Amino acid sequence: MSIESPNDLAGMKKVGRVVADVLDTMRRAIRPGLTTRELDEIAARRLAFHGARSAPREAYQFPGYTCISVNEEIVHGIPGDRRIEAGDVVKIDVTAELDGYIADAARTVLVGDVTPIARRLRMSAIKALESALSVARAGERVGAIGRAVHAQATRDGFAVARELAGHGVGRRIHEPPNVLNFDSGSREKLTDGLVIAIEPMLTAIPARCVEESDGWTIRTHNWSLAVHEEHTVVITAGRPLVLTA
Ligand code: CO
Repeated sequence: MSIESPNDLAGMKKVGRVVADVLDTMRRAIRPGLTTRELDEIAARRLAFHGARSAPREAYQFPGYTCISVNEEIVHGIPGDRRIEAGDVVKIDVTAELDGYIADAARTVLVGDVTPIARRLRMSAIKALESALSVARAGERVGAIGRAVHAQATRDGFAVARELAGHGVGRRIHEPPNVLNFDSGSREKLTDGLVIAIEPMLTAIPARCVEESDGWTIRTHNWSLAVHEEHTVVITAGRPLVLTA
């Protein structure tokens, strides 16, 4: 969507704060021994506390309130009986709807002592997102975002998941434009007020995406470790307004 009124902006800010709060609540709850279903139930209660709904559950009948993806899983992991262990790299992804507005964000949480690679990979994704924010402005090409993400990942010796992308968001979970994590060369431009989810998804070694037999979970074909950092932002003439910080 594009912000057309003060109401739009207020609505997006409100749902953005809810998503950030649910992610913080999940992050604080993560510990070894907790199942991903228990973590999802914590998120469900927090969404309900805010009067918000899980957008993927409503729109796609996703079998959970949030997506929880562990280690080689990149995105769309289904909460279940898997127990989080020390050393795990847990990606939590929350898309909430409140008053007709939708925001989407994700964080990577390192559980206990993780490998140095996991630490560096997460830091690379955080820097890639920051680098994307520094170039995303009205009049710039959408591809500048992917260019910035890809450059950071490459600089750090990592790869981007090429088959997955950020996206427009706001009234639906997935709206145009497609926001790839590399520069496809498209001339499509960012416009003032456009609401998009920017989401670097990085892998330790180059990997293709494969879908698990559960029909949802997407993991690396070669079991490479993957990380994910995501914010929903409003494009402006200057630095984007980050709604999910
Ligand atoms: Co997203």
